[in-house]
Amino acid sequence: MQPSDPVGHNRSAWNQMARQRNRFARPARDEDFVDPLRSVDGPGWLGGDIKGKRVLCLAAGGGRQGPIYAAAGGIVTVLDISGEMLELDRQVAHQRNLEIRVVEQSMDDLTCFDAESFEIVIQPVSTCYVPDILNVYRQIARVMAPGGVYISQHKQPVSLQVDSQGGSAYRLDAHYYRREPLPPAQTASLVREAGTLEYIHRWQELIGGMCSAGFAIEDLTEPLHADPAAEPGSFGHRSHFVAPYVRIKARRTSQAVDFPAIWTPET
Ligand SMILES: C[S@@+](CC[C@H](N)C(=O)[O-])C[C@H]1O[C@@H](n2cnc3c(N)ncnc32)[C@H](O)[C@@H]1O
Repeated sequence: MQPSDPVGHNRSAWNQMARQRNRFARPARDEDFVDPLRSVDGPGWLGGDIKGKRVLCLAAGGGRQGPIYAAAGGIVTVLDISGEMLELDRQVAHQRNLEIRVVEQSMDDLTCFDAESFEIVIQPVSTCYVPDILNVYRQIARVMAPGGVYISQHKQPVSLQVDSQGGSAYRLDAHYYRREPLPPAQTASLVREAGTLEYIHRWQELIGGMCSAGFAIEDLTEPLHADPAAEPGSFGHRSHFVAPYVRIKARRTSQAVDFPAIWTPET
C-alpha cells in the first residue's frame, strides 16, 4: 500500500539526519574550494567553466554542492525538502561569503520557478525518495533552458532490490516492479539511509523517462565502488556484485513530448 505522505515522511527523516551530521550532511571542506568545479565535475561534463550560469542544485541540501558550484561562479539555487539540510547551505555560504538561494520544496513540484530558469541542473542521489520519477523529469524539463545540461545520480534498481546485509552472497529480495516503497532500513548503510521511504525506479523510467521528457543522454557512468579484496558483507564487496549508482549526463533538447503511457504490469 502507498503511504499517504512519503515526502513528509522523508522530510522528517532527512531533518533528523542533518541534525546527526549524516555523511550527506557534511559541508564542503577547504580543499573542495581550491578548484571547485573540478572537485564536483571530475569528468568535465560541464565544459570547464560555469561562470554566470544559472545552476539548480536539486535535492542537494547539506552544505556541499551549492557552495561549491557558487564558488565556481554559478548563480546557484539549492532546492531541498529538508529545512535543516538547507540550513547547512546557508551556514556554509555565510562563512565563505558566497551567495546562494535556498528553496524548501519537493523536487516533484518545481512550479515555484519560471520556465527555462536554469542552464544547469545538478541532482545528487535523491529520485529514490519520490514515487513518480517521470513527474520529476517533466518538472526539470520545464525549468531548463534549451541546450541546458542535467547531471543526475541515482541508485541502480538492482541495488535497491538486493538486501543491504550480506555475506559472501547477496539476496535479491524485492521484486523489480514493486510500486510501493521499500520498508525503511532499520540501520544506515552505504546503500540505504535509515528511516527513509525509498522507491525502486526501473531502467525504463530512469532512462526512457528522461528521454521522453525532452532530454538527450550524452554520457552515463557507473561510479566504481567495487573492491574484490574487501571483506564479505562490506560496501566494497557488495559493490563488486552489484553496482550501487549510475550517473547520467543529459541535455535538454526538444520541448517535452507528451508522456506515452509507460507500460506497468499490475503489482
Ligand atoms: C543523498 S542526499 C544528497 C545531498 C547531499 N548534499 C550530497 O552530498 O549528495 C539526498 C537529499 O535529497 C533530499 N530529498 C529527499 N526527498 C526529497 C524531495 N522529495 N524533494 C527534494 N529533496 C528531497 C534530502 O533532504 C537530502 O538532502
